[in-house]
Amino acid sequence: MTATALLDGDSDAGISAAVELLMHGAIVGVPTETVYGLAANAGIDDAVSKIFVAKGRPSTHPLILHVADIERARSVAEPWPPSAEILGTTFWPGPLTLLVRRADSVSTVVTGGRDTVAVRIPDHPVLARLLEQLARRGCVGVAAPSANTFGGVSPTTARHVLADLDGRIDAVVDGGECTVGLESTIVDCTGDVPRLLRPGGTPAEAIRSALSKFGVGFDDRTVESSSDAIAPGMLASHYAPRARVETFDDIAALEARKRQLDGEGIPTQVLPHPDDLGEYSKTLYSALRECDAAMPNVILALLPDNSGLGRAIRDRLNKASADR
Ligand code: TXA
Ligand code: MG
Repeated sequence: MTATALLDGDSDAGISAAVELLMHGAIVGVPTETVYGLAANAGIDDAVSKIFVAKGRPSTHPLILHVADIERARSVAEPWPPSAEILGTTFWPGPLTLLVRRADSVSTVVTGGRDTVAVRIPDHPVLARLLEQLARRGCVGVAAPSANTFGGVSPTTARHVLADLDGRIDAVVDGGECTVGLESTIVDCTGDVPRLLRPGGTPAEAIRSALSKFGVGFDDRTVESSSDAIAPGMLASHYAPRARVETFDDIAALEARKRQLDGEGIPTQVLPHPDDLGEYSKTLYSALRECDAAMPNVILALLPDNSGLGRAIRDRLNKASADR
């Protein structure tokens, strides 16, 4: 493949170029509010297949389908459950992905052979324009995983995407730094009670409260990681930098460990841990990349409390620290 083009998401020319590429089966890095995605036209199987090759991701790992509006989300599901209607109308556009049974029109290449599809409406002005223009040309949406190499740290800038995938993808659209900074929350809406599959940018408490207004329950017990977990992104080791990550619940323990490693002459980096959870989430992945670039043996990370966005931050740090 030739060099990867860097397109300006703030210009009409940049958006048009990305639309043309996607209509012709190319794979393109795109900004979302959560992390950058690696997008392909969901209606072109060969294009979607290229994503797995570029990422080095097994083709049985299903992709999220990103659509422009809720009518399109409804159209890719059969049936469209009441819980999805509640959550979609409450949180979209936004960092929430809903798992529903797929309509026949959705290719199994997108869903990794499953009879379900994960769908979301992202909240990013550049991607919104892209999806609108694609929709006008008959494209239902784009299939996109995070635009990193498999198992690595997700990208939150166009530069991160290039660092991982330059020369392996056709283009990346620069839409600035992602504002949420970690992936969407995934909720399984296929059963009687909606179920949390992956904590993310929409806090579980907000989901519970939205559903409870309609008398609908919410199962947010954490799903155990296993190689055949319902959402394979829940594999134990994921989101991992090169260095080993060690996590701590309190700062005193982290500092004691740092003194010990310093004493042994082992290079360490301490991950910045802003008190504000929005800031922690927004900067988490770029901070992990920066720490890793200093080539330490160990990155020491302070876990936030397990509520609000803290739950997703803890989840990602624990996965980054899992044995590989
Ligand atoms: O915020 C996000 O969700 C980002 C942006 C780009 O939208 N995307 C993202 O995609 O994080 P990815 O592929 O890195 O993670 C999506 C997760 C994976 O764990 C995948 O296995 C799961 O969603 N998933 C997708 N479709 C599924 C399906 N039909 N059944 C079960 N799990 C599914
Ligand atoms: Mg990912």
